[in-house]
Amino acid sequence: MRDVIPISIGAAASGLIVREHSMRARAERLSAATLETLLNAIDANDAETGAHVRRVAGYALILAKAAGLDVRRRHSIERVALFHDIGKMHGALTDIFHDPSRLTPEERRAVMTHPQRGAEVLAPLSAFYPELGKGVAAHHERWDGTGYPHCLKGGKIPLEARIVAIADTFDAITHRRRYSPARSFSEAVEAIRQGKGTQFDPGLVDLFLSQRVLSQVERAMRRAHSPQRKSENRRRGGQSHAPDITFRWRPRSLSSQSQDR
Ligand SMILES: [Fe+2]
Repeated sequence: MRDVIPISIGAAASGLIVREHSMRARAERLSAATLETLLNAIDANDAETGAHVRRVAGYALILAKAAGLDVRRRHSIERVALFHDIGKMHGALTDIFHDPSRLTPEERRAVMTHPQRGAEVLAPLSAFYPELGKGVAAHHERWDGTGYPHCLKGGKIPLEARIVAIADTFDAITHRRRYSPARSFSEAVEAIRQGKGTQFDPGLVDLFLSQRVLSQVERAMRRAHSPQRKSENRRRGGQSHAPDITFRWRPRSLSSQSQDR
């Protein structure tokens, strides 16, 4: 009789562990699905922004990996990169972003609200991803304290936002936009160099300018701009996103959802 009790306790404990593991896996899938739904909404609103944020995530991850950041921090940086422009999905801003003409001072002020609007959109996720809203709100802050919306300076700017700022600028220069043609890889590299210590974190700029990071960024850029990628995107119905750089944290077992329904 004495032997039976430990076995029962052991069986109950392992049952609890299995159940907890299954619940955790389900929560991770739900979290990935929620973020993917948000990204689909960005695509539906503006496929060009959807493609931009994915390229930015790709460049940001190269820099984050070179900085030796662990996988949790890299996921955090990827999330901030993917949602940094979600605040542009706003009635007051849509017309401004779709108008190729020069911004009036009033329109510029309206555009400058998008980091804070983005943080507000993402506020319900703050209990799960506290860094997300803060990183998104700070992606236009500058190292020298002259950015917006809060004039944060230096290390007060979240690391996620400092990395995304470099990746965002690099993509804005190398990819054609409604209001400006694409410029070359070397022009973009020069702009990042010029922003060292003023717009950007000087340590991160040094890392970005290292041969190892530059060659990876250039490869990623050529892949994203290749005619083959463009024709693949056309086949997908005009959405020009790059699926290989999105949701790397998504659990592999996503397709086996029926198991724990
Ligand atoms: Fe932005």
